[in-house]
Amino acid sequence: MDLFGAEERKEVNDVLETGCLFRYNHDAMRQGHWKARDLEAEVRAFTGAAHAHAVSSGSTAVAAVMAASGLGFGDEIIVPPFTYIAPIEGVLLGGGLPVFAEVDDNLCLTAEGIEQAITPNTKGVLLVHMCGAAADMDAIMEVCKRRNLTLIEDAGQALGAFYKGKSVGLFGKAGAYSFDFFKIVTAGEGGLCVTNEKEIYDHIQQFSDHGHDHIGDNRGMEQHPILGTNFRMSELHAAVGLAQMRKIDRIRNAKRANKAYIKSRLSAIEGLSFRPMPDAEGDSGTFLNFFMPDQPLAEKAAHELGNAGVGVNYWFTNQYHFINQWAHLKALKSPFKMAIHQLGAPQDYANLHLPQTQHSIGRLMSLGIKVTWSEKEMDELCATMTRVLSSVLAGHA
Ligand SMILES: Cc1ncc(COP(=O)(O)O)c(C=O)c1O
Repeated sequence: MDLFGAEERKEVNDVLETGCLFRYNHDAMRQGHWKARDLEAEVRAFTGAAHAHAVSSGSTAVAAVMAASGLGFGDEIIVPPFTYIAPIEGVLLGGGLPVFAEVDDNLCLTAEGIEQAITPNTKGVLLVHMCGAAADMDAIMEVCKRRNLTLIEDAGQALGAFYKGKSVGLFGKAGAYSFDFFKIVTAGEGGLCVTNEKEIYDHIQQFSDHGHDHIGDNRGMEQHPILGTNFRMSELHAAVGLAQMRKIDRIRNAKRANKAYIKSRLSAIEGLSFRPMPDAEGDSGTFLNFFMPDQPLAEKAAHELGNAGVGVNYWFTNQYHFINQWAHLKALKSPFKMAIHQLGAPQDYANLHLPQTQHSIGRLMSLGIKVTWSEKEMDELCATMTRVLSSVLAGHA
């Protein structure tokens, strides 16, 4: 198996040879090739979801899941302050009002954090399974049920992660995955929605294609039960995603093995600790997440690892993934008037008090795990990391 190669080319060529780049209709022209449908079937088989629907990106998947779950104008939705910003933008574009709650060393929203953030206007929770592994689902499900909150999941970074045998994305009303270039499997660009509820699925697939009901082979005569927009995935992207999805087990196993190898080496470093996962067995293996004792030491370590040629993510100062850097969000800058401008923000985003989050993300570094590393490369990497981290930690009581 190439990580990327003959299998992807074969699927893309099927599409190019028929010339049918559109995922719906044209039954005769497509000569039996339905790449988006086949990708959806692979995702159903892998995750155990009753329904799956491919869309144009992880961001549009979040938007479709939100809309189909009935979350929109004026609804307060609890979100994490540590995430790629896409789900926060999804809430805002859908007319919702993000309410930030605490994450902890498991890098996801916590049940206690959610509970503290609830107000009489809270409608839902948009849970983000960060850095390849699941949130603490038993506790989160309990609070969502007890407080009657609609749970939706952004598993954009966590396809391949499971919690007690159940795929992330399937705990709430619906879940979203990303197939962008940086994910465990990719379509170039793409996303996927999953749900176990037929009615939610219908709304997802209709909303993602201008409300079309997708019944029959005459697009011009289809009914439109709802309004929607275009979040469709093309057959070309689906072809790449399909070939990739068929490799996810092998990619995940290789990532898990490499991660275990590196983690066992770095475990010898005194003062370093690792992400406590509520179900480590279900980890997708995409990131090794580790902590320094405090924020200044982590910043120093990230800097010195960079100087030594080791690229770790230090999210605390990174522009994309952490609220501290989201000046545009704090100022609610957008070229058009959103619901939040009219209704007002439910929190003062510039002055949030989230001490646990600051403590966790300030100490966190994440190493992206590559499938292609040889044992020799990993040995070299571990030697460099051990040298740098031990020297930063030396003298720290
Ligand atoms: C948690 C999360 N949600 C959503 C997205 C958006 O996915 P996409 O880039 O496919 O739009 C990302 C992308 O990195 C992500 O990390």
